[in-house]
Amino acid sequence: MLDCDEPRTYMSETGKKFYDLTIEQRLDRLAALTGLDGTDLAVFKGADALSSDQADYMIENVVGTFQLPLGVAQGFLINGHEIPVPMAIEEPSVVAGVSYMARLVRSGGGFKTISDPPEMIGQIQILDLKDPQKAWESLLAHKKELLMEAGLGDPLLLKLGGGPRDLEVRLLEHPAVGNFLVLHLIMDVRDAMGANVVNTAVERLAPLVAKITGGRVHLRILSNLADRRLTKSSCIIKLNQLAFNDFSAENVRDGIIAAWAFATVDPYRAATHNKGIMNGVDAVVIATGNDWRAVEAGAHAYAARDGRYTSLSTWCVNAAGDLAGTLEMPMAVGIVGGATQAHPMARVCLKLMGVTTSADLAGIIVSVGLAQNLAALRALATEGIQRGHMSLHARQVAITAGAKGPDIDRLADQLINEKTVRIDRAEAIMKQWSESK
Ligand code: MEV
Repeated sequence: MLDCDEPRTYMSETGKKFYDLTIEQRLDRLAALTGLDGTDLAVFKGADALSSDQADYMIENVVGTFQLPLGVAQGFLINGHEIPVPMAIEEPSVVAGVSYMARLVRSGGGFKTISDPPEMIGQIQILDLKDPQKAWESLLAHKKELLMEAGLGDPLLLKLGGGPRDLEVRLLEHPAVGNFLVLHLIMDVRDAMGANVVNTAVERLAPLVAKITGGRVHLRILSNLADRRLTKSSCIIKLNQLAFNDFSAENVRDGIIAAWAFATVDPYRAATHNKGIMNGVDAVVIATGNDWRAVEAGAHAYAARDGRYTSLSTWCVNAAGDLAGTLEMPMAVGIVGGATQAHPMARVCLKLMGVTTSADLAGIIVSVGLAQNLAALRALATEGIQRGHMSLHARQVAITAGAKGPDIDRLADQLINEKTVRIDRAEAIMKQWSESK
């Protein structure tokens, strides 16, 4: 286990914190601490980032590429490993928030994660059944044959130790179609996100399923409620880490728990609470070229699994009086396939973290979600979020008003001092400055 002192990536040789360095110095620092080489750094600098020609192969009707800021969160100690975490996000305060919380979590030994096997569910809808019960029994009686058939489409996956694992049958009903069966094909997709693997397998199975049941196979598609592929991250924040400004440690700890309790019983609050979690989650999912819509869909469906939408995270006081948090959620992400290797930036982001399995990546993502939840609850339960947000928001307003270089901070400071962080005021100040030159 590494020590819980200042994170290795946090300070530079000059004693400057990562956020105080220039972009060039930050890149040098990352290169010194990780396996990134000059080619990788060129991708971060934009020289070898995604070109329009590459993009043209990825989607249709391409006219360009769309960029987001990429930050690297600092201070994460996950399962005993120091992990610099790349985050692609346009919202200020998120990268700073998770980095700060990651440092607090070090006091309790860092984040500990655990992931289910990478099993995804493919669904086959079977309509027009004369006897659904008999069809159900026939499917289970042919389980071995069906699993064998499902695996034939992907010999490489079988070689890697993945492939079909199980079948489940469910009987559903809707007035539009009457009774129908749904066959779930459970597949271990190893280090892929799994959509292609599973969709290929369920399409392959369809004719055999129709033959066995005598029904009409309709939909054949992956389910994004990846509830067999859950990842859990837990952390402890020592009580003595929680006090700041005029807020006592007990006050902050109990305030965080009261804020969490609100989200557990109220869907209006839970939606915002979980949105904060997804601020952290999505930023890493996007930086690694994964499908954030799939992760979002899985997260919210899982948050409503008991019929009522609730918090994805849990916070409590442990026996020692410290604050303990957990976040458990479906995490269907891959480190092979899709854009994870095809997108130059995603490839370098994965290399930066040194992940070798999809479970490693899932553990990092869920830990960042938990850290972001802690950052939001800590701010909300104490001084509110606007204070921290305002300075970064003011910088964005300054940039939008046309400020460049040192004028960005100068203008942002003036807007904050005047307590008027608005674009019209920023433009007026810029005009005054240019007239007085
Ligand atoms: C803002 O992007 C996210 C928060 O609203 C999350 C929360 O309220 O828990 C601050």
